[in-house]
Amino acid sequence: MPAIEVQGLAKTYRVYQKREGLLASIGGLFRREYKQVHAVENIGFSIETGEMVAFLGPNGAGKTTTLKLLSGLIFPTAGEARVFGHVPWKRENIYRRRFSLVMGQKNQLWWDLPAQESFRLHKEIYHIEEGPFRERLDELTNLLEVVDLVGQPVRELSLGERMRMELIAALLHSPDILFLDEPTIGLDVVSQRRVQEFLKQYQASHSITVLLTSHYMKDVEALCKRAIIINEGHIIHDGPLAEVVDRFSHHKIVEFQFASNQIPGDLHRFGQVLETNPPRVKLEVVRNQIPGTLAEVLAHYDVEDVSVHERPLEEVIAEIFTNNRSRENETEGAGLPTEDGRASLSAQS
Ligand SMILES: Nc1ncnc2c1ncn2[C@@H]1O[C@H](COP(=O)(O)OP(=O)(O)OP(=O)(O)O)[C@@H](O)[C@H]1O
Ligand SMILES: [Mg+2]
Repeated sequence: MPAIEVQGLAKTYRVYQKREGLLASIGGLFRREYKQVHAVENIGFSIETGEMVAFLGPNGAGKTTTLKLLSGLIFPTAGEARVFGHVPWKRENIYRRRFSLVMGQKNQLWWDLPAQESFRLHKEIYHIEEGPFRERLDELTNLLEVVDLVGQPVRELSLGERMRMELIAALLHSPDILFLDEPTIGLDVVSQRRVQEFLKQYQASHSITVLLTSHYMKDVEALCKRAIIINEGHIIHDGPLAEVVDRFSHHKIVEFQFASNQIPGDLHRFGQVLETNPPRVKLEVVRNQIPGTLAEVLAHYDVEDVSVHERPLEEVIAEIFTNNRSRENETEGAGLPTEDGRASLSAQS
C-alpha cells in the first residue's frame, strides 16, 4: 500500500483585500473585498512506504500548503488524500501518532524551557512509555550530538542546535512519515550537512517515509531519488531527480581544449561562450546541436580534448522557476533530448 495517495487535491484561500486609503478602509467596513488564492490546484501523486521524495518549487508554489493539508492542519477545497489510509483532516488520534511535521521556519519547542521539558511534554501527548521514551531520546540525542544541550533553554541554542532539537521532538513518537518543510533553512553548510547525514542515517535504519521541501539542492541531491516539482499550484514534474536536468535543461556544457592558445574566434556560432581560459573554452550548446557542433569544431580546429557535461541541478531548477518555461515543456515535450543528443554524450564524453 502506498504511504501517501493524493488525488485532485486543491486549496483555495480566501484573502481579504484591503483597499488603500482611509476612505477605502471605512468603505471596507461595509463592503469587504475578497480575493481567491489558488495555492494548490488539482494535484495528484502517490508515494510508497520508505520513499524519500523531494517536493520542490519556487516561493509561493504551494509546498507548505500541501504539507499542511497532509498533516491535517487545514482543510482542502477539493480532492482527496490518504496517508496510510487515513484522511489527514479528519484528525484522528491514530493518525496523529503516525506523522510529524517539521517546519524550519517555525519553532515548535517551548522557547524558554530546556528542550528536554518539551520532549517530556511530547511523551505525555503521544502516550510514550517511559522505557521506549528513554531509549529513543538516547538514540536521537546521540545521533544528533546534542546530549549536553538538552538541559539548556531553547532560546539560548544556536539555530543549528535548535533545528536538531526540533527533529528529536518530531521523531520521539516514532512516526512512520515525516513531513519536512525546509529543515535546513538558515543553517550554515556544516549544520546543513549534519542534518542531511542524520536524515540519511535515520531513514536507512527506520525506513521512514519522508516528504521534503527545500530550496537547497544539496539537501535534495543528498537525500532524494525522486522529485515532485510544483509551480503555481500545479505539478510540473514527478519522477527521478536525475531526469530533472534531462528534461528541463535545453543545454549542455561543452568544453574544448585546443592544441594552442589560439582560440577560434567564431565559437559563438555554436552557442554562448561561457568561459575562455586559453587553451580551454566552455560553451553552452543546445542539446540536439551537440553532435553537429562537435563534428564541425573537430573537423576545422586542432582539438586536444573535449568533454560534455550536464548543467548543475541548482542552475536548472532556478531556470525553471525564473523563466516559468516549465509548462511549455510539459505541453510540447520540448526540452527532451533527441536520440542524437544522448548518443553524442555517450560517444564523446
Ligand atoms: N493562510 C493563508 N491565507 C492566504 N493565502 C495563503 C495562506 N497560506 C498560503 N497562502 C498563499 O498560497 C500560496 C502558496 O503558499 P505556500 O506557503 O504553500 O507556498 P510555498 O511553496 O510553501 O512557498 P515558500 O517556498 O515561499 O515557502 C501563496 O500564494 C501564498 O501567499
Ligand atoms: Mg513554504
